[in-house]
Amino acid sequence: MQKRVTDEDIKERLDKIGFRIAVMSGKGGVGKSTVTALLAVHYAKQGKKVGILDADFLGPSIPHLFGLEKGKVAVSDEGLEPVLTQRLGIKVMSIQFLLPKRETPVIWRGPLIAGMIREFLGRVAWGELDYLLIDLPPGTGDAPLTVMQDAKPNGAVIVSTPQELTAAVVEKAITMAEQTKTAVLGIVENMAYFECPNCGERTYLFGEGKASELARKYKIEFITEIPIDSDLLKLSDLGRVEEYEPDWFEFFPY
Ligand SMILES: Nc1ncnc2c1ncn2[C@@H]1O[C@H](COP(=O)(O)OP(=O)(O)OP(=O)(O)O)[C@@H](O)[C@H]1O
Ligand SMILES: [Mg+2]
Ligand SMILES: [Zn+2]
Repeated sequence: MQKRVTDEDIKERLDKIGFRIAVMSGKGGVGKSTVTALLAVHYAKQGKKVGILDADFLGPSIPHLFGLEKGKVAVSDEGLEPVLTQRLGIKVMSIQFLLPKRETPVIWRGPLIAGMIREFLGRVAWGELDYLLIDLPPGTGDAPLTVMQDAKPNGAVIVSTPQELTAAVVEKAITMAEQTKTAVLGIVENMAYFECPNCGERTYLFGEGKASELARKYKIEFITEIPIDSDLLKLSDLGRVEEYEPDWFEFFPY
């Protein structure tokens, strides 16, 4: 048995990471993992050293987006070696890489998940990173809160779709960030509109400008809006999200 991960172990590893961003949402299925992946690609294309911590233990989807379902974690003197993405060499760590079979369901209770997150934070051999993106479990309940507390991100990005985007959702996210003394970097409005492939006309199915309105109200940044994009969906399904060309985070100042 290895000894338990201590706060010092975690600090030592996190100190080698320039900036940690947690990606959170009020609800599941709004595009957290997609945004995490797109942010990682955005930075990697700038030549930054990037890692992704898939902290969604109950529904890990980062490996699938990058075609890494068969990834396995190797153990070296440095610790648990992350799996590298094919094109950009983004370092990925996911519970998926430790499960015997892809279908193995993760039926874990909160404290176990918290313990595993600490294992990841204290033992993964990221080396020096410019950015670590953390894909949080959905919601603003205990699980994401615990992850935030342990991973101590420098900032959080809130992801929402227009349907889910309400004052209550934004308030909850802000409260969670405050509880963990994390800055809110801003809101991403995902699946904001549909662009006609023929004439380029944009249709805002659930109304335009919700995110920027809420951002103004709560004095946080409106980061970007991402359309419903069949190319993005296709490449994600094929495990080739790295090949997706548009960069929706061009003006993200971090
Ligand atoms: N802008 C988009 N255009 C088209 N499809 C999208 C877009 N964003 C996300 N999707 C698709 O929607 C589904 C849900 O996205 P994703 O897995 O990123 O959400 P999530 O918030 O991480 O979900 P979960 O709560 O299950 O972790 C995926 O199939 C994804 O490919
Ligand atoms: Mg997800
Ligand atoms: Zn048209």
